[in-house]
Amino acid sequence: MSPLILKGVRPYGEGDPVDVLIRDGVIAAIGAYDETSATLDGHPVHPGGTTSGDVTSGGTGHRTVEGGGAVLLPGFVDLHTHLREPGREDTETIATGSAAAALGGYTAVFAMANTDPVADNAVVVEHVARRGREVGLVDVHPVGAVTVGLGGERLAELGTMAKAGVRVFSDDGHCVHDPLIMRRALEYSKALDVVVAQHAEEPRLTVGAQAHEGEQAARLGLQGWPAAAEEAVVARDCLLAAQVGARLHVCHVSTAGTADVLAWAKARGTEVSAEVTPHHLLLTDERLATYDPVNKVNPPLRTAADVERLRQALADGVIDCVATDHAPHAVQDKDVEWSAARPGMLGLQTALSIVVETMLRPGLLDWRGVARVLSERPAEIAGLPDQGRPIAVGEPANLTLVDPDARWTVRGAELASIAANTPFEGMELPGRVVATLLRGRVTATGGRVAA
Ligand code: DOR
Ligand code: ZN
Repeated sequence: MSPLILKGVRPYGEGDPVDVLIRDGVIAAIGAYDETSATLDGHPVHPGGTTSGDVTSGGTGHRTVEGGGAVLLPGFVDLHTHLREPGREDTETIATGSAAAALGGYTAVFAMANTDPVADNAVVVEHVARRGREVGLVDVHPVGAVTVGLGGERLAELGTMAKAGVRVFSDDGHCVHDPLIMRRALEYSKALDVVVAQHAEEPRLTVGAQAHEGEQAARLGLQGWPAAAEEAVVARDCLLAAQVGARLHVCHVSTAGTADVLAWAKARGTEVSAEVTPHHLLLTDERLATYDPVNKVNPPLRTAADVERLRQALADGVIDCVATDHAPHAVQDKDVEWSAARPGMLGLQTALSIVVETMLRPGLLDWRGVARVLSERPAEIAGLPDQGRPIAVGEPANLTLVDPDARWTVRGAELASIAANTPFEGMELPGRVVATLLRGRVTATGGRVAA
């Protein structure tokens, strides 16, 4: 592949614009491209053409992306994506989900195990990984189930799946609620050097639950999902992880109380990490007043006080990262009466904008912080050596270019996913992904994925 120059970009949104030379999938030089000598920071570059905002091929020469002062970040890593293949290819496929990911600025995603068949064995995880490689728009890492069929009763063959390359295990959609099974899973995860990601929900406390347990649910006549059902499991699992000496990752933290538990566990040295979703950073259970099931999600939307605490926890590192919980659903499963609707919402193409809206604009994070929560920390948690790396010479060119000043209006029908269940429909959001690069290859630019 011919070399690529990102022209006029600002790494981490800092300093004056620079040019970045990418060769053989690696950042080769950072400096100023000099047309006359056709060099960048002393590196010779064959001259090539340019067009604004898009990629041009300069014949035998280099290709150029005009940055226009856009913010350059390490490519985003999503620890929590539902790609629905195999089993529900009517709502999302590895191809369409990968396109959504690339357009959203992601260079790696973790595909949750609650597919049909469940990814609880090496055959299914290898299939997902292979399909991801064939599509080639984003690194697709299959998550392995913790228990057979997500049933919560028998441990799946974690060792076999780890040997097949699985780094993260989760029964997401279901909680590993039996403490003995969870303890065993943590013991295996320690021995295998992988991480268990828990969907924290004590099922005995959420039977029939339809909404956050509180005033709004009472007013609307919806059965409550108490905060303690999440907090109690997180507390228990922090204790178990500490006891076993294993690492624990907590999926989609949704309550202020869970942030308190995490702060306590981290203070006492427990190796626990946690994610928050964009929707839990922005939306509250006030949205439920219309009974529109697009707002139904598990864990449910909580209160304004929870949202405020989650933002603060993400800012100060009590919560490590943002993960989308991208959950496509078909119209017949979603656009139905509230109690019958499946929980979940799209997230891959709106995550960056929601983080800009809820964290960057209020001054809770700067662009370095955005890089930390969307890229560096998730890469570290999953143990990906080539993602979430510094923007520096010699590093792999997994990069995302963001226009910080752009504003755009969300239209579910225009997103790359097959399903269209976005709760942000019609909202005007700040910040837009201009281009995404996977090992130096442009996977998305100008709102379109690479052919
Ligand atoms: O809202 C959710 N949807 N929460 C989950 O835990 C699972 C997910 C799904 O698979 O649809
Ligand atoms: Zn979940």
